[in-house]
Amino acid sequence: MMREIIRNTIKQNKYRIIICILFVGINIYVLTIPAKIIGYIIDLLYNIQSNEEIIVTNLIYLISIGLFLVLVRLVWKYYVTYLPRIFEMNIRNSLFSHLLRIKVSKLQERKNGELMSYFVKDVADIRAAIYNMISYGTRIIFTLVFVAYSMIQNINLHLTLIALTPLVIAAVLTFNIRKKMDKNYQISQESFTELSEYIQESTDAIRTIKAYHGEDEQIKHFISLNNKVKDSNYKVAIYSSMLSMCINICFGLSYGLTLIFGSKLVLDGVITVGSFIAFNTYIALFVGPVSWMARVISKYRNGKLAYNRLESILKIELELNDMKKIKSHESILKGDILIKNLSFNYPGFIDRALSDININIKQGETLGVIGKIGSGKSTLMNLLVKLYPVGRDKININGIDINDIPTDILRENICYITQDNFLFSATLKENINLFRDEYDDEDIKQSIKNSIIYDEIMNLPNNIHTVIGERGVDLSGGQKQRIAISRAFLNNSDIVIFDDTFSALDNKTEQKLLRNIKKLVKNKTCIIVSNRISDIKHADKIVVLDNGNIVESGTHRELLEAKGTYNKFYEEQAIKVEDSILN
Ligand SMILES: Nc1ncnc2c1ncn2[C@@H]1O[C@H](COP(=O)(O)OP(=O)(O)OP(=O)(O)O)[C@@H](O)[C@H]1O
Ligand SMILES: [Mg+2]
Repeated sequence: MMREIIRNTIKQNKYRIIICILFVGINIYVLTIPAKIIGYIIDLLYNIQSNEEIIVTNLIYLISIGLFLVLVRLVWKYYVTYLPRIFEMNIRNSLFSHLLRIKVSKLQERKNGELMSYFVKDVADIRAAIYNMISYGTRIIFTLVFVAYSMIQNINLHLTLIALTPLVIAAVLTFNIRKKMDKNYQISQESFTELSEYIQESTDAIRTIKAYHGEDEQIKHFISLNNKVKDSNYKVAIYSSMLSMCINICFGLSYGLTLIFGSKLVLDGVITVGSFIAFNTYIALFVGPVSWMARVISKYRNGKLAYNRLESILKIELELNDMKKIKSHESILKGDILIKNLSFNYPGFIDRALSDININIKQGETLGVIGKIGSGKSTLMNLLVKLYPVGRDKININGIDINDIPTDILRENICYITQDNFLFSATLKENINLFRDEYDDEDIKQSIKNSIIYDEIMNLPNNIHTVIGERGVDLSGGQKQRIAISRAFLNNSDIVIFDDTFSALDNKTEQKLLRNIKKLVKNKTCIIVSNRISDIKHADKIVVLDNGNIVESGTHRELLEAKGTYNKFYEEQAIKVEDSILN
């Protein structure tokens, strides 16, 4: 949770935070001293001859204070820049590690752009809030305390109250103006985003627009969007000048009142001329804090909103809430898979992606799954690795309900080569061992030999150490598939799933690869999902999926004799199959 992240970061950095605040305090306190010294010197000027020595001493004090302030400022400036970055980093780290452990079904409800904005905008908003609080907030508070105290203590209570009243008014006014300014700023940001998206879309669709002669409409819409950007920016500018104007007027008022009442006090002999001048210097110390107040509050508010949004992300259920009923994975995941009356629809969708699926596979067997696009093949595979939740006793592995098998153990024991064969922008080696160190180069080489891509990889400039996506190293669909398949040859899990991973291979390569896979899965449970008969015809069992239902099942021979859907696929692919027999 956010509170824990913030609390831990504070704990880790408590000395830095203390030093930072302490030095800000020292800084502000020391800032009040020159005013006093200047006032003192001025009073001494009446008798310059006899006071010469004291005046010089005090001037030296002034210079030393100046130098001292530079050092103090350096220290806290360093910390106020450093600390918010630490908070930002910790929040981002926790957010990312949380995100990767969220249930896929929950993650699916959020758009990609939305997720990005958590990492970019919200985290930055929180950093800005923290920065403003420790840099400006502390200075505001210390100034209020130390300077007001010095004014009352060293000079005069009434004069202080009179002089500070306009400043309080300034603070309230700027707060209200700032609120309006922020609102318009937000509108300006949003309309600018809208405008950029519109430009992007229009240029992308330029051919279509020209084809139906829609330029004028597009331009008209653009002008109105652009007008909105102008209006909101204009308002921001107006409010911004109002802000500084309001501060100037109130300070002018404060100085004016001080002049009137202060000079009267001087004439009455209540305060000295030096004190009067010192008082004016004190007022000047308020300029910064009064103008910062509204900003600190607005940044704090933004930060709080971002905080709540991130908190809502961190509250999303994690996957690893599994009961740890099973500790050791040695004994469990031999590959008997039993699927009983399994139906499934994607969260938020009414249509069933799978209905009433029954499959029984024994350790060592190979199951072929065939079916048209969208028939539910990948959905079934995703459920086997718990990417989405299923009810109890729907899927059992080795006699255990998968709900009782901790997700990490389950996934460690099932080698699932997915359909999307996504590759990271990393080296080929890392793409194959998936960033685990337990395999050496020889293991990797053996696995790419098995997946029939050895020669192609060895011809690349840095062979298995070539970085994908860098300097024009790009791979064909079939190469990507075989690299993904190499992962299966590295893995020693008892269950191996290939989801449509041979679609981009030519017949010859495919047959060689299937032979190697056959060796690999000799004692393992293997599921091959494919649209091609040639990939699955040797399987011990084949199921035919159609629209989420198993419409046929049996061996290749049985299914051909049944003369149903499978046979139809077969006939459609007959030419291809004959080819592969010839090879
Ligand atoms: N993440 C998802 N959210 C909602 N519906 C989905 C999701 N993924 C798939 N579907 C739907 O579920 C059905 C089955 O999809 P699935 O990906 O399992 O088909 P498939 O048999 O693997 O198809 P293909 O041969 O194209 O890989 C389809 O109607 C699809 O639109
Ligand atoms: Mg699929």
